[in-house]
Parts: sequence; C-alpha cells; structure tokens
Amino acid sequence: MTMDRYVITGKQRLEGRVRTSGAKNAALPLIAAAILAEGKIVLQGVPLLTDIVYMTEVLRKLGCQTEFEDNNLIIDSTTLHESTIDEELMRKMRASNLILGPMIARNGRVKISRPGGCAIGTRPMDQHIKGLKELGVTIHEKHGYIEAIAEKLRGNEVYLDIPSVGATENIMMAAVLAQGTTTVRNAAREPEIVDLQNLLNKMGAKVRGAGTHVIKIEGVKELRGTEHSVIPDRIEAGTHLIAAVMTGGDITVENVIPEHISPVIAKLRQGGAEVIPNSDSVRVKHKGRFKALDIKTLAYPGFPTDMQPQFMALLAIAEGTSIITETIFENRFQHVAELTRMGAKITIEGRAAVICGVPKLEGAFVEATDLRAGAALFLSALAAEEGTVLEKVDHIDRGYENLEEKYRALGAKLQRVVKQP
Ligand code: EPZ
Repeated sequence: MTMDRYVITGKQRLEGRVRTSGAKNAALPLIAAAILAEGKIVLQGVPLLTDIVYMTEVLRKLGCQTEFEDNNLIIDSTTLHESTIDEELMRKMRASNLILGPMIARNGRVKISRPGGCAIGTRPMDQHIKGLKELGVTIHEKHGYIEAIAEKLRGNEVYLDIPSVGATENIMMAAVLAQGTTTVRNAAREPEIVDLQNLLNKMGAKVRGAGTHVIKIEGVKELRGTEHSVIPDRIEAGTHLIAAVMTGGDITVENVIPEHISPVIAKLRQGGAEVIPNSDSVRVKHKGRFKALDIKTLAYPGFPTDMQPQFMALLAIAEGTSIITETIFENRFQHVAELTRMGAKITIEGRAAVICGVPKLEGAFVEATDLRAGAALFLSALAAEEGTVLEKVDHIDRGYENLEEKYRALGAKLQRVVKQP
C-alpha cells in the first residue's frame, strides 16, 4: 500500500450518469470457484480492484493460469499443483479464505494462514470450520494456520449459527463435489450467493435455493469450464446514490439491479430523496435537506452493513437526530472520529451511533481507516463547505474501480497525490 491521498474540492453538485462495475463481493467467490473446474473459466465484468488482483495472485501461486483483459478474467486451473499459500498474501486480503472449500473439493487438502482481522472486526471463521467438518473435513488449527484434509467429502445437513456470507460460499464450493446431498440451513441470502450458484450450475453442479435460507447441493463427479458475467456491484451503486443526495445533485446510476439495493432505496425515499428506478438503472435527485431516520444493519435483505458508513455521512448533514445500529460487525464505527473532524456531531453508545444532523460539514484533513469508511469520507468531502485532504485512499481502491474518472465525469474536482515512498 503506498497510501496516496485525495485533495477534494467541496460543495460540488454532482450530476450526470455513472456506470457501476461488477461486484467485488461476487467476483471474489467466483474466482475461488474456478479452482473446481477441469478447464477454463471466463468471468466477464470483473472489476479491476486491488482485492481482485490479490485473489488472482492467490490462484497463480496455487499453479493456476490467469489472464486479465478489459475486465475479462480467464482462469485455467488444470495446472493447479500447490495446496498452500503464504502468510503475507493471506494477510493482504482475508477473502482468500474462500479457497478453503474449493481446494478441499478439488484436491483434498489445503493449508492457509488464518486471515488477519481487519479494522471492522476480528472476522472469525468458526462457521466455515463447523460446516466443512460436517462434510467430513479434518481441520487442524495451530500456529495461526488452518490445515484442512478430506479423504472423501460426504454430503450432510449443515446448520449455520449465523447467516455468514463467506461460510455459506465455502460450504457450497466444498459440497458441489461431495458424495451425496448437502442442505445448508440458515444460509446467507445475499445476491452474491445467487451469482455463485449460477456459476456453479453452469459448471455442471446441482445447486438450488441460493437467495433463500435453505440451499440444497447434490454432489457431482466433476465440474467443467464455462463463462459467466459478474452481477453489478450493489454497494458501489448505493454509494453513488448517496453522493447525489449529499451534493443536492441528480445522478443516474447504470448497470444496477434495483432489487439488490431495495433497502437503500427505501431509506433514501424515507428521508425525502426522489428515487426513480428503471430496469437496469436508478436515478436519484435531491433538493433541500435530507430528513433524519434510524437504520439497523442486518443480513440481506436487511439494510447492508457495507452501506452503513456512507449512509452515516448523509445522516451527519440531515435535519434531525438519527440512530444507526450496527449489528453485523463489532468495530465498524472507525469513520465516526474522522467525520467528527469534519464537524459531524456523532456519539457512539455500544453498537449504536447517535447522529445529530448539522447543516454543513467542514473541509478537514481526514484519513480512510477501511474501505467503506473511506467511501463515506470521500462523499463527505464532496459535500463539505471547504476543501478536504483524504489520506490512505488505497483502502478505497480495494472496492471502487475508476473512482476518480467516474466522479470527474459527474462534476467533482479532485486530485490524487501519489505519496512518495
Ligand atoms: C462478506 O464478508 C463481505 N465480503 C463483507 O464486505 C460484508 O460486510 C459481509 O459479507 C457481510 O455482508 C466479501 O463478500 C468478500 P460474514 P464475510 O461471514 O463473508 C460473523 C466489504 O466492505 N462470523 O457474513 O466475512 C462475522 O464476525 C466487505 O466489501 C462469525 O462469527 O462476512 C460478522 O460479524 C466488508 N463466524 C458476521 O458473522 C464466521 O465463521 C457476518 O460475517 C463467519 C462470520
């Protein structure tokens, strides 16, 4: 990470059209699933993000061939020969834990270093491990490593204590080549899980029920290469909608599935924004002050935790007092201190943040502590009265493709200052 910074001019009314990229949180499990194929997987609409670069690096270290051009990622896993990846790479991006399931199914063993926690939480893996054990996997955990071995994977009933996205994905990717049928109950219902089911079924798997709490997987003998287009990034889309409201602008977000952001649309309307969805785009225009409201983050189809920091930035300038309750991650209020530096009036009471709306935010020196906190501060800087310097924007590069170009096209004035090493 080189920790570059943005110098952002405030009070920019944004208007125009912006096209979201493919979903980071769909592409990551889809890339992991390519490990399962005897043949080439072609993923279209893959966003060029640091997290995606790291994930393809993981597959290359395992011996897969990868090629990335014009947002198309070609993965050939026929030459896969390794079964472990080094600690340094694991720590760079915790979603590399998604190789557990497919590696176990593909070659019966894998050793990963326990992915580090991150700014927003400890990110435990007990549900991943519980589910894989129920499929017959032996797991050794020591010295910060997780080693998983399975002579034979057997389908089974798996109940998740928490509808964990990653655990659901890992178990699905292990179960597709198990002997017999697996039923996952209390499964996560995120759209990215449905996208993974669609890719697996194109590869010859038999998965049903993704998007509901019960997913049934009938094991098959082998999976073949195929091609698949990644769903649009609902969190990027939601971020752009909030940009329109915060800057009193008028933005049409293209390449979005409105259903995937229905909780965000509902809350924007509740606060007084005009939201006009179409089949694959959503337009938002807003005048005047947004009204305060309360939010509780929940697993899909509840309000997404990945939109919590961005929505808090909007509520910081809303009329009235709002309460945000973060029920998913135990430490996802890192952006509060930085927003306070911009004049926001926010107090934290355990899992809840109480936001007293102020008329305007002030320009300031702030820093991104994690991906979505960085996005929240980016939006705040665009709406603030004066200019802002936002440090550590490399966090934002993890989840937003071509952010500068997209926002300059909407009228934003910003410069990226590359920090000399
Ligand atoms: C995915 O993370 C996303 N990442 C996250 O997006 C997102 O915030 C999260 O789902 C929730 O929607 C990717 O898809 C790559 P979880 P994941 O397992 O799978 C607890 C972003 O900004 N838990 O659903 O790691 C966990 O601590 C990122 O793009 C256990 O207790 O999330 C958390 O409190 C941030 N045990 C809750 O469940 C486990 O074994 C939800 O975690 C697993 C999770």
